[in-house]
Amino acid sequence: MREWEKGSASESASARGEGKREEGEWFSAALHSTLSFTPTRPQPYLADRKECMVMDARMNRVIVALDVETADQAMEIVRACNGAISFFKVGKQLFTAEGPDVVRRIKETGNRVFLDLKYHDIPNTVAHATVEAVKLGADVVDIHTSGGFEMMRKTMESVEEYCAVHRLSKPEIFGITILTSLGNAELDRIGYTGTTQDMVGRLAALGHEAGINGVVCSPLEISLVKKTCGDGFKTLTPGIRPLFAQSLNDQKRVMTPRDAFDAGTDYIVMGRPITKAQNIEEALQKLEDEIR
Ligand code: C5P
Repeated sequence: MREWEKGSASESASARGEGKREEGEWFSAALHSTLSFTPTRPQPYLADRKECMVMDARMNRVIVALDVETADQAMEIVRACNGAISFFKVGKQLFTAEGPDVVRRIKETGNRVFLDLKYHDIPNTVAHATVEAVKLGADVVDIHTSGGFEMMRKTMESVEEYCAVHRLSKPEIFGITILTSLGNAELDRIGYTGTTQDMVGRLAALGHEAGINGVVCSPLEISLVKKTCGDGFKTLTPGIRPLFAQSLNDQKRVMTPRDAFDAGTDYIVMGRPITKAQNIEEALQKLEDEIR
């Protein structure tokens, strides 16, 4: 291994921390995250610790979408979430504006990153792009299931090979099914036959067969995906609107965070209800109260 590769391999490994965590490990992950952040709110008394950990196990699986223009704005949100949220999503807007450095900056704060670039291309291109995301230290990466079986399979093989050679823990690779902003009428106009439910079930099954870790889907499709692909196949659900949020924005197939967790989702992604809140800390407190 060349010198620079050793450096970036060990950086990425430590950036990813323990890497993939199994279901039962969320408790220790939650405790770890509770202890490793500088608290911005008063910490609970010891008697409340268990309740706090149960709550944190869910808060640990909330991913805040950093859909902003600059890295400075993104880092401001990361700071404002400190102590309550440890997972952030970098999507097309921020990545196009600021490039990979913003991912490195978030990783340096000890938080996890979901690199949401929704790769969709020929198998070779998506596989190589995903390996670059691995080098960057992304904890979750997404690709389009509609890119096909071969695209997903080759991507998984390339990631597995790269991680084995460089002794890295593998990130989780999620497949996009149908965007949560699309309803049945729009699917019809695109030319997809079948309802959103039909399409999500079909694309999830294809992703499962190709070996990806789970799918991005609307919270309304969590049980469908789990029933089709088994409980071990994960769901990551945007389209989340907490009770305190006034607006649906452009989301159509939505659910509250509590209902999404109760339905068995593994991660929820939330952007505007948190990032556009007048007071982020207050919004997070309301979220904690809501999902408790
Ligand atoms: O602000 P809001 O909570 O609607 O943000 C949702 C985030 O999840 C956005 O960054 C959006 O790009 C992303 N997303 C989505 N639907 C998908 C996949 C990702 O809304 N199917």
